[in-house]
Amino acid sequence: MSSRRLQQIIRSVATSDGAGVSLRRSLGQSQTTRVDPFLMLDEFSSDDPNDYIAGFPPHPHRGFETVTYMLDGHMLHEDHLGNRGDLLPGGAQWMSAGRGIIHSEMPQQESGRMRGFQLWINLPAAEKMKPAAYRDIRPEEIPQAVLPGGGEARVIAGSIVVDDREVAGPVQGLTTEGLYIDVRLPVGGTVCPGRAGGA
Ligand code: FE2
Repeated sequence: MSSRRLQQIIRSVATSDGAGVSLRRSLGQSQTTRVDPFLMLDEFSSDDPNDYIAGFPPHPHRGFETVTYMLDGHMLHEDHLGNRGDLLPGGAQWMSAGRGIIHSEMPQQESGRMRGFQLWINLPAAEKMKPAAYRDIRPEEIPQAVLPGGGEARVIAGSIVVDDREVAGPVQGLTTEGLYIDVRLPVGGTVCPGRAGGA
């Protein structure tokens, strides 16, 4: 296993998107910060429905993948291919826009907390025109591992090794070899999970 060094800390900025959803954007806020294949990372987090209720009405994407990971709240996804799915707390949605998709992502609650992340991952040039694909990942499909030093990790994409045991997420075989983990640590805790298969 090789290790990686932290290269840069990018502070998020407050912005809005969709029909007026307040969010914080880290990756994607500046054209000069290039961390390909990652294009954008947004966090939406609010207890105030005015910050999220307008949602994301139908809009197009092309040439990249969107990964939405919900922590709190309930969002409905629909697209022009007829896919329809509920995003529940602890669940995720992995959508490959490929050569084009029009979809909507609308909150299904009028009060309470909504919190989650959306990451945009670029597709290699050879895959940009492939058909769009969509996958709902239910909360119970995401394995959770207790970390040796305390805390826990949920593995959404790729695989990690914890206590000599491989923990494989439901999303595998990505061209970008993406590793997507939700790590929760106690105050002052540290983590050093190995990535299965090397780096
Ligand atoms: Fe979208």
